Amino acid sequence: MPRIITVSSGKGGVGKTTFAVNFALTLSRVAPTILVDLDTGTSSVRNTLDTPVSKDLYHFFRKGQLLTDCVTHLDPTLDPQGLFKDFSFIAAPMHSIEEITNWNDSSRWKLVHAINQLPAEFVVLDLRAGLDANVIDFLPLSNSGILVFTPHHPAATLAAGDIVKSLLFRKLRFIFSTDSPFFRKHGALANQHRMVNELLDQVEDVYEDNLPNLDAFLQDLLMSLGPSPYLETIINVVHSFGVYFVLNMFDGVEESYDTAVRPFVDYLKNGLSAHLKLTNLGWVIKDDAIHSANCNRRPILLQPIEQKRTPLPLDPVMRELASLESSVFGLPEPKDITPLTKPTPDELLNISDRSPLDRQLEILNTMFRTEGSLQVRNNFAYITHRVLHIVRSLPADSFGQNRLLTPLEIFHKVFPDLPS
Ligand SMILES: Nc1ncnc2c1ncn2[C@@H]1O[C@H](COP(=O)(O)OP(=O)(O)O)[C@@H](O)[C@H]1O
Ligand SMILES: [Mg+2]
Repeated sequence: MPRIITVSSGKGGVGKTTFAVNFALTLSRVAPTILVDLDTGTSSVRNTLDTPVSKDLYHFFRKGQLLTDCVTHLDPTLDPQGLFKDFSFIAAPMHSIEEITNWNDSSRWKLVHAINQLPAEFVVLDLRAGLDANVIDFLPLSNSGILVFTPHHPAATLAAGDIVKSLLFRKLRFIFSTDSPFFRKHGALANQHRMVNELLDQVEDVYEDNLPNLDAFLQDLLMSLGPSPYLETIINVVHSFGVYFVLNMFDGVEESYDTAVRPFVDYLKNGLSAHLKLTNLGWVIKDDAIHSANCNRRPILLQPIEQKRTPLPLDPVMRELASLESSVFGLPEPKDITPLTKPTPDELLNISDRSPLDRQLEILNTMFRTEGSLQVRNNFAYITHRVLHIVRSLPADSFGQNRLLTPLEIFHKVFPDLPS
């Protein structure tokens, strides 16, 4: 089963494409990975990869080509050692073409179906900005995929929060719609049903102060209904929802914490629920080298590696990171990476349920301890390390998804007891 991992942000300019390209490159060191450019209006993936593209989404939509035939491998000049031979990408058309930029429903489902057939272990989707069906329909049902935001665009942090809100409400609305099996089963509770939907309207409406978030709403519901299937269902949906994020253009623990992580966590907590499962997957530093690598159409991970480091004692965690880095990037086994203070394996790998805000600060501090020109590579190695750990230790619904779901499949996933 492939794992489909979306990269989204709600707003543009935060580094989605930069992250998606380098993340997919890193993943491909572990298993075959295909990056799909779904931001068909800007087509930025092909603009950051100096590789000739013979077929792209234009050929898929207009020329009836199979999506698997629209896959492009890196030009050998970008990857002379073949380190990234398992990386490939599907480019958006070179120029904006209205019907490919703004898919209608049937184009979108055609693409969804074809993405589900792609022969790769990892499929990374670089999504466009915005919150319409062409973003939401590619996102998972029970988690956020990877959200990217940055201390440099505070408004984008809230836009990432809005994605989470849309996903949660999409699911709740679906469950509580009047033609859902939930309604049929609890039809006798028609009054409750109307009330729940009205209250959901109030929570979703940011201009409505009565019910600031789902937690307050659940309190209200408990007071007026007592224990009920509605309450139980909402608690299940909210408490199991996983939110994963990456900080791009990271510029220091405190700055990032104050201008990105805290507003994001507060926004979710105050406007949605304090019970979402938040996971900070890591960060990517702000570095002009990243930007100029993009401009030269040779992403930072495809740049030649300069090696200049002073030997210092290794601790077990840094050794693990270093050997991952060596397997991922083909570097010789390093003898010389060191943290300033020792992170513990628990800090690096444990996905804990402790207070989400404290946990974010801890993780930020841990990651700030790498130095030198390999920092960006370490950032991606670290994030990939965490993603692999999550992919291998949690069920598919917890992070990303095995396949993109059609409305009918969503239906059966949300109501698994129903006969098909
Ligand atoms: N970590 C970084 N450090 C420096 N510049 C970055 C970094 N990430 C992205 N950029 C630059 O920021 C701009 C927006 O990045 P891009 O990946 O195109 O964002 P998006 O896909 O979200 O619109 C680009 O010019 C890119 O080169
Ligand atoms: Mg982009």
